[in-house]
Amino acid sequence: AKARHFHWEVGYLFWSPDCVENPVMGINGQYPGPTIRAKAGDTVVVHLHNKLHTEGVVIHWHGIRQFETPWADGTASISQCVINPEETFVYRFKVDKAGTYFYHGHYGMQRSAGLYGSLIVDVADGEKEPFHYDGELNLLLSDWWHQNVHEQEIGLSSNPMRWIGEPQSILMNGKGQYNCSLAGHLSKKTSLCKLRADAQCAPPILHVLPNKTYRLRLASTTSLASLNLAIGHHKMVLVEADGNYVQPVTLDDIDIYSGESYSVLITTNQNPSMNYWVSLGVRGRHPATPPGLTILNYHPNTARPPSSPLPIHAAWDDYPHSKAIANKILALQGSPKPPTRYDRRIYLLNTQNKINGFTKWSINNVSLALPSTPYLGSIKFGLKGAFDHQSPPENFSSEYDVMKPPSNPNSTVSSGVYKLEFGKTIDVILQNANALNANVSEIHPWHLHGHDFWVLGYGEGKFSEEKHSKNLNLKNPPLRNTVVIFPYGWTAIRFVTDNPGVWAFHCHIEPHLHMGMGVIFAESVERIKNIPQAAIGCGMTAKMVMNNSHT
Ligand code: C2O
Ligand code: CU
Repeated sequence: AKARHFHWEVGYLFWSPDCVENPVMGINGQYPGPTIRAKAGDTVVVHLHNKLHTEGVVIHWHGIRQFETPWADGTASISQCVINPEETFVYRFKVDKAGTYFYHGHYGMQRSAGLYGSLIVDVADGEKEPFHYDGELNLLLSDWWHQNVHEQEIGLSSNPMRWIGEPQSILMNGKGQYNCSLAGHLSKKTSLCKLRADAQCAPPILHVLPNKTYRLRLASTTSLASLNLAIGHHKMVLVEADGNYVQPVTLDDIDIYSGESYSVLITTNQNPSMNYWVSLGVRGRHPATPPGLTILNYHPNTARPPSSPLPIHAAWDDYPHSKAIANKILALQGSPKPPTRYDRRIYLLNTQNKINGFTKWSINNVSLALPSTPYLGSIKFGLKGAFDHQSPPENFSSEYDVMKPPSNPNSTVSSGVYKLEFGKTIDVILQNANALNANVSEIHPWHLHGHDFWVLGYGEGKFSEEKHSKNLNLKNPPLRNTVVIFPYGWTAIRFVTDNPGVWAFHCHIEPHLHMGMGVIFAESVERIKNIPQAAIGCGMTAKMVMNNSHT
């Protein structure tokens, strides 16, 4: 194992992700940011210098659990102080598990501004993956708006709220085509793109040799869109989800929600004289965005767009299709199993609400607002008044009708946290419900920091202890760090509190988190030792750091 150092500067650039130029947040003059590649057991050291003129910044390493380094999780107001302009912060953390990960900004809506990149961890020297492949392909998926994130943010926090709408483009490795289509020759409505291969918006062509097996790594950092990937004439074998091995399963297409990552194997056993479409369609919301496209290019063909029709994605609201895929994802034999009993079960009802006329999302009627002083320091030092000391409720009224708009739509704002004791088995039942408008319930991908959790099951309607508890999957539930709740449904997860830290658990849809859709788990913070001064030298903990250099 070794230490891998990276020196990064975050700044705005002019860039054309979808052939339209916009200000984009990039790293070292590049968008998306550079790919980090390491081996399991390595220590990654990122020296992050903030070159933004008037904004703070932090970076979160999505899927990395940060054992013994909770201050390196990169969450503003939670694990650290924001890095001010011209400051440098050093992230140092161990990547303990091979897999497909990514990183992204975790302050305000900086992820939506383009602050993200891939983080890939290979198996340690001498180790082998439990599947074979000849080559590797990597696609980081995102969505893109022409309206800048500052304007988006103002809209979301206005009264009445102005929704950001659907993205203009779906991007692969930061590349999409807005004013033309790679499939323009197949349609009367759009024109065919004529792009130089070195254009910033030229598609990331997947070059392959015939009769080989490729590992295609997929990770979604979308702000809003749920995606479905299909490759013309090729099936995929799912082998990894969120950095955990799964039972290999053959799929025609795969859903990828924001915050999720997967590896699929594809075998290039089709007619080698042709190229094939790779298409990324929008799911779960009425699509107003054309699919993201690229080409699976068999060597030695020229990388020309195929003349075959585009792969067809299931209808955007075909939830049975999505649920069927979700239910096929199971742990590979030999994976760690969950404890059979839980110590504590927390029910989290997801609702859309109003607070003084402002539109919010709430959990058990509490909408999350982050404090100015990062929790990690304020909880460690027992500072009263740094955040709301009342913990949010662990349950919601048994009378609540999840199929109807809330009868009392008002909720409160709070920075309260759930305190978790060390060494306990925690269940969380995520409960979806109707939004403010009748007959609307959306998909929400929930992401947990600091842990992988077992997905014990999904169900329809309201979760019931008597009816559903005994049917949860304790045999081979997959380990994940992100899981969806389907419209009007529930999802049950389980994890063990073995990692002291302050961890966000939230909807990975950027505007939803921004509108309060998250909770904070303060996990055995008393066990955390040696918090670096640079992480908490702000707000009410600035003083503590000065008085006590041995935090
Ligand atoms: Cu990828 Cu808290 O986020
Ligand atoms: Cu959401």
